[in-house]
Amino acid sequence: MNIHQLSWKNFRNLYAGKIEPCGGVNVIFGKNAQGKTNLLEAMWLFTGERSFRGAKDLELVPEENSSALLEMHFESENREQTAKITISGGRRSVELNGVSKGSCSALTGKFCAVVFSPEHLSLIRGGPALRRNFIDLALCQMKPGYAALLSGYNHTLIQRNALLKDIPRHAELLDTLGIWDDRLCRYGERVIRQRTAYLKALSAPAAGFYSGISSNKESLSFSYRKSAEDLRRALAENRQEDLLSGHTGAGPHRDDIDVFINGRSARSYASQGQKRSAVLALKLAEAELLSRMNGERPVVFLDDVMSELDAGRQDYLLNHLAGFQVFVTCCEPGAARLMKSGALFRVEDGTIASSPVP
Ligand SMILES: Nc1ncnc2c1ncn2[C@@H]1O[C@H](COP(=O)(O)OP(=O)(O)OP(=O)(O)O)[C@@H](O)[C@H]1O
Ligand SMILES: [Mg+2]
Repeated sequence: MNIHQLSWKNFRNLYAGKIEPCGGVNVIFGKNAQGKTNLLEAMWLFTGERSFRGAKDLELVPEENSSALLEMHFESENREQTAKITISGGRRSVELNGVSKGSCSALTGKFCAVVFSPEHLSLIRGGPALRRNFIDLALCQMKPGYAALLSGYNHTLIQRNALLKDIPRHAELLDTLGIWDDRLCRYGERVIRQRTAYLKALSAPAAGFYSGISSNKESLSFSYRKSAEDLRRALAENRQEDLLSGHTGAGPHRDDIDVFINGRSARSYASQGQKRSAVLALKLAEAELLSRMNGERPVVFLDDVMSELDAGRQDYLLNHLAGFQVFVTCCEPGAARLMKSGALFRVEDGTIASSPVP
């Protein structure tokens, strides 16, 4: 996967312009609020997913009644492809290789990328829901049936919880609870199996990237923490509690991932730089698994990753991610001095220009 050219009109503060990145590392630098993240976001939209900042389409244009146009030339499936995205009236429309497509999801799998932005640090710092979401999103991209499986589980969970709340008023409904327990177990056990297998596959590449980032001085590991070893038994054992609370206490919706650096919980013990390195390693490992599956390496977007990383860690990101096309944003061009080969771009007030590598 390789972006050859991106051009834009009226995308946030990027009024009109284009960029021709290199196939390796591209450093995008500029002061705060000049348009660096906007540029990454513009490229990211070609994955067909929502903005990684969670922005609504209406927020992507300078004024409510204006329309944004993005056009990308990229190499995928060993051929040059062109995609266009138009954002107008809060809606996105897509054209792929000259053919207009109904929805953005037509781009899914055509252009693949992973993104790190500072908000992703909550993957270590935040609650379990974010970590579950990380694996669930990755699995949805990799396993075609997983999205349906997960939604089957969630749907069943909602119905079981509704029933738990009804039973105190309608005692006769208690007999039907077993049916929902069965259904929840069938979906739940498969969700747990898929998540466990994904984490197992992720573990070696993530450890490899982490060890590279830390110059082989530290180690990263993680494990899937189940809220119950045996879901069927847990549902039976927790039944009284569930009936009192009106919620299902055990199941994959309560599971978590424990991340360890040098064997200690990253959430409680890791430094800022270590947390950042751990999230990066997870994201890069996700990219690695995607590329094993597709036979193509996804593009890597690293927003604001350099701050809090020492020179050794910066060097790793700039010079050792062989085979990936990488975009790194930072405030100072200085980081690019560590870069052995690559391209440098300066962003100023929504204008992006190629800049000589120092
Ligand atoms: N819809 C929009 N229309 C016009 N300008 C916008 C829109 N959305 C955001 N902006 C502006 O774009 C500018 C650049 O934002 P961006 O997030 O890309 O900055 P940045 O270069 O990444 O800065 P930082 O280093 O602080 O992260 C900001 O001034 C922001 O107000
Ligand atoms: Mg930014």
